[in-house]
Amino acid sequence: MNLLVTGGYGFIGSNFILYWLKEHPNDRIINVDVCTYAAVQKNLESLKNDERYVMVKADICNYEMMELVVDLYQVDCIVNFAAESHNSNSIINPTSFYRTNLLGIQTLMEVTRNNSRIKRIHHISTCEVYGDMPLDSDNKFDEEHALGGNSPYSSSKACGQLAARAYYKTYGIPITISVCSNNYGPYQFPEKLIPLFVSNMLEGRPLTLYAESNYKREWLHVEDHCRAIEAILLRGKIGEIYNIGSGVEKSVEEISDIILKYFNGNENQKVIVPSRPSHDRRYLLDCNKITRELLWKPMINFEDGIISTIDWYVNNKDWWKPLIEKSTVNERKWENV
Ligand SMILES: NC(=O)c1ccc[n+]([C@@H]2O[C@H](COP(=O)([O-])OP(=O)(O)OC[C@H]3O[C@@H](n4cnc5c(N)ncnc54)[C@H](O)[C@@H]3O)[C@@H](O)[C@H]2O)c1
Repeated sequence: MNLLVTGGYGFIGSNFILYWLKEHPNDRIINVDVCTYAAVQKNLESLKNDERYVMVKADICNYEMMELVVDLYQVDCIVNFAAESHNSNSIINPTSFYRTNLLGIQTLMEVTRNNSRIKRIHHISTCEVYGDMPLDSDNKFDEEHALGGNSPYSSSKACGQLAARAYYKTYGIPITISVCSNNYGPYQFPEKLIPLFVSNMLEGRPLTLYAESNYKREWLHVEDHCRAIEAILLRGKIGEIYNIGSGVEKSVEEISDIILKYFNGNENQKVIVPSRPSHDRRYLLDCNKITRELLWKPMINFEDGIISTIDWYVNNKDWWKPLIEKSTVNERKWENV
């Protein structure tokens, strides 16, 4: 199979490409990435001379270019990871988020509409599209829950998901969609919580926590996410949405405590900063559908996964150090928006 992966230089995309080629050695991957600041070429350095891997620097919003790539490489299936992915950035520069996260997937849908060879286009979405819930809620978001992202990031992802669904309903485009909780693991850009806090500890910087640091997230190891996408590509039913999560919730405060404990740090290393606007309280996914229908469940427990992830950043300083300067996120900018 010729698999077109978009955003393959990003955190989840690069983990997915490495995972897929290991598990499916006869397939070929075409990685289309426009190379924003979040793209890290060296994630896929090991594939440099691998005949099964091709990289094309291109924008998923460019219809002509995407059509050319799909024809040239005889693409059978598309997996769309490409996105602007940082909530805080979306508050400063919303336009680029709606462009890639909505018009990007709509362009890929249009390319698929005009190409009968493509048998499936899978879109990667996020739990944030369901809006948020109270901290003490007993509910979970299932796949039927109304969409309602609160930030430009989450609402642009919700718009993209709706566009994919509309192409299925209107034109019968062979889509599947997955809606995943927060991921952690190796190769995550050091502007995101876990690598940010680990790099801050290693470089003597404080851990910056929002005032509402009791807000929770559901954490899934990126390798379990890759396995779930694999299950959907192989067994998922066209037109369906699948939630992917672990059920393990930790607040930002709890994550910071785990990291402080790992480094024998103390409370004084925490600094409270104002929360960003539209900071969501909590999302928790109901993942019965993917477990019941596709027999997927997470294999990495959080306690092991978080320690091996911290170890990875400790042992791969050369990977994240040059990226720190590239980060465009400033968590103290809110008074100006
Ligand atoms: N990270 C998480 O915890 C998480 C959780 C659920 C869902 N998701 C979703 O998973 C996907 C991947 O997330 P990530 O954390 O790996 O993101 P990331 O920011 O690490 O990587 C995004 C990649 O997309 C590329 N890209 C951006 N705009 C593009 C464009 N117009 N054309 C081509 N390439 C473009 C970037 O260069 C980058 O390599 C996103 O769709 C995100 O919404 C992420």
